[in-house]
Amino acid sequence: MTTFTKLNDQDAPSISIHPTRRISKINPNIYAGFTEHMGRCIYGGIYDPGNKLSDENGFRIDVIEALKDLNIPVVRYPGGNFMATYHWIDGVGPRENRPSRPELAWLGTETNQFGTDEFMKWCEVLGTEPYLCLNFGTGTLDEALAWVEYCNGTRDTYYANLRRKNGREEPYNVKYWALGNEVWGPWQVEQMTQEAYAHKAYQWAKALKLLDPSLVLILCGQTGFASWDHYTLKHCLLPAHSELSTSAVPLIDMHSIHLYTTSDSHLPNVTAPLAGERAIEITSSLIDLAMIENNVPPSQPRPTICFDEWNVWDPIRAEGSKGAEESYTLSDALAVAVWLNVFVRKSKDVGMACIAQSVNVISPLMTSPDGITKQTTWWPLYLFSKYMRGWTISTHLASATYEGETSPKWVRSVKDTPWLDVSATLGEDGYVNVAVVNISEDRDLETRLDGPTGQVAVFTVTGDNLAVSNMNGKQEVGVAESTWEATGSYVFPKHSFTLLRWKAE
Ligand code: AHR
Repeated sequence: MTTFTKLNDQDAPSISIHPTRRISKINPNIYAGFTEHMGRCIYGGIYDPGNKLSDENGFRIDVIEALKDLNIPVVRYPGGNFMATYHWIDGVGPRENRPSRPELAWLGTETNQFGTDEFMKWCEVLGTEPYLCLNFGTGTLDEALAWVEYCNGTRDTYYANLRRKNGREEPYNVKYWALGNEVWGPWQVEQMTQEAYAHKAYQWAKALKLLDPSLVLILCGQTGFASWDHYTLKHCLLPAHSELSTSAVPLIDMHSIHLYTTSDSHLPNVTAPLAGERAIEITSSLIDLAMIENNVPPSQPRPTICFDEWNVWDPIRAEGSKGAEESYTLSDALAVAVWLNVFVRKSKDVGMACIAQSVNVISPLMTSPDGITKQTTWWPLYLFSKYMRGWTISTHLASATYEGETSPKWVRSVKDTPWLDVSATLGEDGYVNVAVVNISEDRDLETRLDGPTGQVAVFTVTGDNLAVSNMNGKQEVGVAESTWEATGSYVFPKHSFTLLRWKAE
């Protein structure tokens, strides 16, 4: 949590960090990923059989090695919008028998050469946990139950045996399951009203938990600040024993929200993720409201927020049906750092956050047949995932604010937009980590720092100007490492992300 005092323009900023005041535990799942059958994410991204850079499974080794550096705890799959017409059964069994199908989300052809067993294997090789999304478009409840049985079944039953026949004896024990994706969207096959969705999601949740009470079920919310979120929470977040269900366990464990931010101008671009922060705050209140209105007993765990699609994305610049390949700039990297500050500051409410997506599609990691490129946005993600874990700690920021336009416009009405964006953590290793984005295009900011002692490790992400990208064959943005003997103040360079790290006393 970062509290804030607004200063006048001429006043110098200050940050005070209080490692003894632990606010909330950071769920490692805020560093989750997402791989969709979209563009070159799966085919040509993580799966590239025949390429000299791939292993015997067809998995790109360079991609796996790079993603291992991000220490990704969970990966969402296989969509996204793709999910609304996907039948998992098409993607299992002998490859030569798998059907090719027209794909309606991105208007391609799905060959089904990569499916459930391949994804599970890929997760094992990467050392991550799967998170599967159910088909709420053309899919049926029978099909969803069959998929859970295929993945998790231990008994002598048809789909558990089909998994065994396909070469996998042990269950995969997939814990996380989403009740559809963006079902509210007009672009969705089988778009639903909130009433129809809430009814169906609750009934599906009941059946799924009867089959496997250990599942973590994720309700399909919208942005977190939509009436859809209010309605679906109100109708699905009920006491475990309610008139709609005799289930012994709560049916809804998490509420999913999505938001992509962007602007052609730097300051609206870099402050846009604060819309995500407000979205989390509003969703958190909507969860409380549903619990209050529905008399959910205090003994029932309070659902957390699953921010299972977030990133910087301009869908006009990088169109979905053309593969959504963004070429990220330094400004975008700073926006991603602000996004990650948001998740750290809001760690009390956020149970998972999935960057959309992990490879090629609106991604920090790009592939070509010959290798990989780490985009500008890779570097803040890498530093956060490496260091910003453990506990969110109390921090106070005093700073002047940017007062211009924001994107979306409403950010200006509901959030302060200080020149420095800050979060801080205390790791299990006893180190304090402070993440600071100086959003100013042209001003280095000398800042009084209360907290750092001794030798401080410094990691800086910046570049010559805000437009530089790593996609032109040259790494214009990376991490510069240095040290700093803690004195009273530190100068945060213009348009930079800085991570300071020292041993707590
Ligand atoms: O991540 C790209 C797409 O954006 C996803 O398929 C969809 O859920 C969202 O609209």
